Amino acid sequence: MSKASKTVYVCIECGAQAPKWAGQCTDCGAWNTLQETVAAPMVKADGRFGGYAGDNGARIRVLSDVVAEHTERLPTGMTELDRVLGGGLVTGSVVLIGGDPGIGKSTLLIQALALLAQHKPALYVSGEESAEQISLRARRLGLPGERLRVLTETCVERILALAARDKPGVLVLDSIQTFYTDALQSAPGSVAQVRESAARLVRFAKQTGTSLFLVGHVTKEGALAGPRVLEHMVDTVLYFEGESGSQFRLVRAIKNRFGAVNELGVFAMSDKGLREVANPSAIFLSRHEQQVAGSCILVTREGTRPLLVEVQALVDQSPLANPRRVALGLEQNRLSMLLAVLHRHGGVGLFDQDVFLNVVGGVRVTEPAADLPVLLSVLSSFRDRPLPGDLATFGEVGLAGEIRPVPNGQERLREAAKHGFKKVILPKANAPKKRMEGVDVIAVNRIGEAIDALA
Ligand code: TYD
Ligand code: MG
Repeated sequence: MSKASKTVYVCIECGAQAPKWAGQCTDCGAWNTLQETVAAPMVKADGRFGGYAGDNGARIRVLSDVVAEHTERLPTGMTELDRVLGGGLVTGSVVLIGGDPGIGKSTLLIQALALLAQHKPALYVSGEESAEQISLRARRLGLPGERLRVLTETCVERILALAARDKPGVLVLDSIQTFYTDALQSAPGSVAQVRESAARLVRFAKQTGTSLFLVGHVTKEGALAGPRVLEHMVDTVLYFEGESGSQFRLVRAIKNRFGAVNELGVFAMSDKGLREVANPSAIFLSRHEQQVAGSCILVTREGTRPLLVEVQALVDQSPLANPRRVALGLEQNRLSMLLAVLHRHGGVGLFDQDVFLNVVGGVRVTEPAADLPVLLSVLSSFRDRPLPGDLATFGEVGLAGEIRPVPNGQERLREAAKHGFKKVILPKANAPKKRMEGVDVIAVNRIGEAIDALA
């Protein structure tokens, strides 16, 4: 096999190049920073323009003269997946799907691809499973297999050669950590291999207008060489969320050049594969027989859809000198900040208490609208006094103790009302102009008012 391209080792700290791998960069002295990369082909300097030679046909244009062709969107046949993609799969787009091993990436893609194959030639390339395994799974899921083609291969060059002949409209590569390119000598799964293999695949997708799905494993810490380094190369990044113990699987758009970010698709893993959950609000509410202290319903908004989730807090006398603050599904620093606000502006100090916080169902809430519900659930647990069962709430809390408005207040209010909540505590600036039938709206300006509203 002839080597068309040369490889060099580049220090990721200072950018110095070395012909061979070494433990330490000779330039900056950093340890373990040399990574194999394909050397850029040398441009022959012709002396003009400071050595920038070569006319490859690129030209500068006026923006208004550039007419975008209509981007074609192909429905995947799974509405929840279409939702996170921003309304269907865009032709020629590259989508990265990340998540823990075993969370359901292959299942989701084989399901979507079997449906897509009815409209467009589709090819599923697996570096992990044999064709028999894939067929077995598709059969068990009851998927039509007549039009779906599979390939088990791990060399990117060979895959691309086959794909160029086969011309699939949709191409799935499962998973990027298993593929390698001949251009590099590093082992599959190393940062250099993952990046270079992906770059070749992305180039192919853009040149041929093929829609490409790349699968990538991430560990809990997101540390594994892989998906993280690809995020900037692709159009859309989707990540699986949710606890592996729960049957629910959330797919979130972290980046999307063709739609809203933070959009959430909700699935349930069953014996027939991933089922779509059309009304996700209902599943995250654990309806208690009896109201319990420390539970508060939050109206959050994920992407373009409001969602009701339950926040639970447990406040308990701490045996430690430094009491613990543990937040699952929410930001830990935010919790510390809110506890400080609660003390300073609400008059409730929790210095000698451990505070645990959890969002039910493995959802991750990143928006500040969770502030007020967090404080109310903490307070409820601390006082051991349950909140009313028909209460829902949302609102950002500022450092001065003020309750700030959040986007799309009306929509959140309507979602709460739709699910039968009769009492809603919200920021004053989010209060509706007209009275709402059957809902007691409590608009608050300051943290003290919210606490008083519960008394
Ligand atoms: P998989 O899609 O293989 O995970 P990934 O590709 O992300 O590594 O999903 C595997 C898990 O899903 C496995 O633990 C079994 C479970 N599963 C079901 O519960 N029902 C099903 O119908 C299928 C296909 C998988
Ligand atoms: Mg898999």
